[in-house]
Amino acid sequence: MMSQTPARDYLLADEAATLAAGQALARALTAPAVVWLYGDLGAGKTTLVRGLLRGLGHTGAVKSPTYAIVESYDLGAQHVHHFDLYRFADPDEWLDAGLSDLFRPDSLCLIEWPLQGGGHVPAADVALTLSHHGEGRHLRLEAASTRGAHCLSDFHLDL
Ligand SMILES: Nc1ncnc2c1ncn2[C@@H]1O[C@H](COP(=O)(O)OP(=O)(O)O)[C@@H](O)[C@H]1O
Ligand SMILES: [Mg+2]
Repeated sequence: MMSQTPARDYLLADEAATLAAGQALARALTAPAVVWLYGDLGAGKTTLVRGLLRGLGHTGAVKSPTYAIVESYDLGAQHVHHFDLYRFADPDEWLDAGLSDLFRPDSLCLIEWPLQGGGHVPAADVALTLSHHGEGRHLRLEAASTRGAHCLSDFHLDL
C-alpha cells in the first residue's frame, strides 16, 4: 500500500534553503493535492509555504493564516489554500468555517497544525515535518497516498 516510497530527508541550513524546498515542492505538486505540515512553532512551516507560493509565481506577501485560519491565492489555473489550525479550540471549528468546500480538483491545500482539525481534515497526499536542527532545520517528506508518491518522485532539491 502506502509508504513504498521511502521518506526523503534534507538539512536546511538557513531560511533561503527552506524557501528553496518550498519552490522545489511547487514544481513537484499538481492539483489536487493536500499537504500536511508538521512542526513546532517557529519550525519553518509558513516559510516553506512562502517558497512554494513564490515557486508558483505569487509575487505578493504571504501572511501566516494563524488568525484568519485560511489564506487563499489564485494562481492561474491553481487555487492554493494555506491553512493554520493552531488556534482551533475545537476540531468542529473546521465544520463551522465550511473549510471542506475549499478542497476541489483545482486546489492545492497546505495545512499547518492539521491534527487540530480532528477527523475533519481531508487526508494528506504528502506529509512534511520540519524540526530544529542546530541553527537550521531538518525537513522530512513522506508520501501518504499514491498521488503523493507520484509527486515526490518528481521532487528534486539541490541545496
Ligand atoms: N532552515 C532554516 N534555518 C534557520 N531559520 C529558519 C529556517 N527556515 C525558516 N527559518 C526561520 O524560522 C522562523 C519561523 O518560521 P515560520 O515559517 O514562521 O515557522 P512556523 O510556520 O513553523 O511557525 C522564521 O524567522 C524563519 O526565517
Ligand atoms: Mg506558521
